[in-house]
Amino acid sequence: MELKPGLSALVSGGASGIGKALVVALAQKGIFTTIIDLSEEKGKEVASLAETEFLNFRAKPEFPPVVFIKCDVTDTNEIKAAFRKHIDTYGGMDICINCAGIGSSIPFDKDRTDGGKSWRLTVNVNLIAVIDCTQIAIQTMREARKPGVIINIASASGLYPLYTDPIYSGSKGGVILFTRSLAIYKSQGIRINALCPEFVQTELALKMDPKFIELSGGFIPMEMVLKGAFELICDENKSGSCLWISNRRGLQYWPTPIEKAKYKTSRGESPDTVH
Ligand SMILES: NC(=O)c1ccc[n+]([C@@H]2O[C@H](COP(=O)([O-])OP(=O)(O)OC[C@H]3O[C@@H](n4cnc5c(N)ncnc54)[C@H](O)[C@@H]3O)[C@@H](O)[C@H]2O)c1
Repeated sequence: MELKPGLSALVSGGASGIGKALVVALAQKGIFTTIIDLSEEKGKEVASLAETEFLNFRAKPEFPPVVFIKCDVTDTNEIKAAFRKHIDTYGGMDICINCAGIGSSIPFDKDRTDGGKSWRLTVNVNLIAVIDCTQIAIQTMREARKPGVIINIASASGLYPLYTDPIYSGSKGGVILFTRSLAIYKSQGIRINALCPEFVQTELALKMDPKFIELSGGFIPMEMVLKGAFELICDENKSGSCLWISNRRGLQYWPTPIEKAKYKTSRGESPDTVH
């Protein structure tokens, strides 16, 4: 899909960090965007910033350039209402980026709560809500009868273990295999891909131990994350693809062809190409 003016995108978690950078970059290309996020104050600020960028690119648009909707992605009804508002405003949905995410608020081994505000919430935001938003986005794109792209923001911590936050790691691993298992939707014109960055300098990552980030090669530049996301949107061959972004190896698809070859069936196919 060519990132051309007039398309529309919905970005969850667009009020901060990676989501904010994506919203602004889309606006700079003249793409109408809905931000859905818990944080109303930051969400409105980003909407205003992105609107200015949009209007610099293209004055007098036919729709509101950027819309903010306060939405908790762990609430299905709120997600459905937000997607409906997007369709009512823009008449379709070309791109959906599921970016809202959190780290665990209490270390797993010290958590004596029922998890409702700690590990269970992390799974609900990082995995369950991504499944929910992906399913609703697929239905929305099907109804619009136009091609669509869904990007699930996973993490490199879903490719290999993050020992300091096993719940985060597990939730992101779930997003990756969920997304890879959706490769078949390409035949219906909907491509669903996962982006797996290592550490990026955002509020979420600033809660991590700086020594640990240094050991992994330091923060990766936001530009690399945007490049990866846009590659997954634009490249028509990418479906169920998972793009790992690190300072050490740049942009690399996972699994590599060598790894993929290891789980080929006797017919010479990878199970993820047998549909
Ligand atoms: N920063 C990193 O190092 C890094 C690396 C890999 C992946 N990621 C992933 O990128 C995504 C964005 O993270 P970030 O680093 O920009 O963090 P961030 O904290 O800057 O932004 C996360 C956004 O999600 C929103 N959010 C949280 N819970 C929500 C809910 N229930 N409903 C709606 N919105 C909610 C927050 O309000 C915030 O605006 C996350 O999924 C994160 O796991 C981050």
